[in-house]
Amino acid sequence: MRIAVPAETAPFETRVAIVPRSVGRLTAAGGSVVVQAGAGAAAGFTDEAYIEAGASIEPNRKELLSTADLTIVVRRPSADDLRLLKPGSAIIGMLDPAGDPGPLLILTERQISAFRMEAIPRISRAQDMDVLSSMATLAGYHAGVLAAYRLPRIFPLLMTAAGTITPARALVLGAGVAGLQAIATCKRLGAVVEAYDVRPAVREQVESLGARFVDVGVESEEHQDAGGYAKELSADAQEREHEVLGQHVMDADVVITTALIPGRPAPVLITRDMVAGMRHGSVIVDLAAPGGGNCELTKPDEEVTTQGGVLVLGPTNLPAALPGQASQLYSNNVTRFLTLVVKNGQITLDFNDAVVAATLMTHDGLPRGEQMLRLLEGATS
Ligand code: NAI
Repeated sequence: MRIAVPAETAPFETRVAIVPRSVGRLTAAGGSVVVQAGAGAAAGFTDEAYIEAGASIEPNRKELLSTADLTIVVRRPSADDLRLLKPGSAIIGMLDPAGDPGPLLILTERQISAFRMEAIPRISRAQDMDVLSSMATLAGYHAGVLAAYRLPRIFPLLMTAAGTITPARALVLGAGVAGLQAIATCKRLGAVVEAYDVRPAVREQVESLGARFVDVGVESEEHQDAGGYAKELSADAQEREHEVLGQHVMDADVVITTALIPGRPAPVLITRDMVAGMRHGSVIVDLAAPGGGNCELTKPDEEVTTQGGVLVLGPTNLPAALPGQASQLYSNNVTRFLTLVVKNGQITLDFNDAVVAATLMTHDGLPRGEQMLRLLEGATS
């Protein structure tokens, strides 16, 4: 089985889907790995490192894509790239069909088996394939560091002969995978940290990291679905959330927001008025920017400085700032996933497997599952 690893083409993307260390495992599973020349360069992996690990290098992208039995990517390739894929071959990556359903047409036409890594279910068996957790872990860490760097004051308490400097106050909204890492990072850097999440189960995790859980009074098991994700709040609960969080936002030097609801726009937790009440120099890092942002002022991948001197950052791809480690974790996740779908050097699918069923978008010229069917219909009409 010929496994292709093309260079990523999304703007500012620095990651590569497979790192040299994973090549041996793919070879052992019956694959021959072919990497586009320079694909790992931005993540610090040279062509020589891939060759040493047993891969070969292909300078011609067209040749690479059109001869592969399996193509592994980080982000969705362009429509032109997808049209090059060999009919009947497979592709694995964070393909995000909801973000752009158009490619579903090409994938069905060319009878490609397409797997979306971002849909790996949150079950124990699939933890080592969970790319969302891997990337959120790095993003949460980096959000803490970014906030500390951009805040025009230090995080820790400092007692010096010249006087005492009080610690910075950080508030983390949404304490899932990224939020918990952001809390841990801000704590390590010496800030006083508060955090909030609608899921009450999170309180213990927040407190175990040494942060204070903010009581809004609307937290409830009901706000959590069977998969552990948050559900959208009622208008009343949202109002209450704004009322209580408003004061905490205005007291904070740093606010890191990570609140997301699958399939819905990110909830607005920080209003324009709250930002207006924040101190000059305060920093908001809004990791929900790809979902529309948790702050009313967030602009994806732009820096907004308000008249009151508050900096609002809306980075959409923080893992790309840590490309070597982000690629390493992603590559490990995909390699684990392949043990599930590749048997004896061939894609072999058990459609009843929950992980296969959740990730498979198209197969044998057809969309898989209700959601893909609806997206494909939308793309056609
Ligand atoms: P996410 O990225 O979808 O959302 C981030 C956080 O925002 C969540 O904790 C959510 O409760 C919170 N949130 C949503 N709306 C909010 C609001 N209005 N106000 C405040 N907070 C709000 O979530 P993530 O980080 O991907 O994790 C979701 C769940 O999945 C967690 O329970 C996590 O423990 C679980 N999980 C389970 C795994 C496994 O068992 N393999 C792996 C990873 C996560």
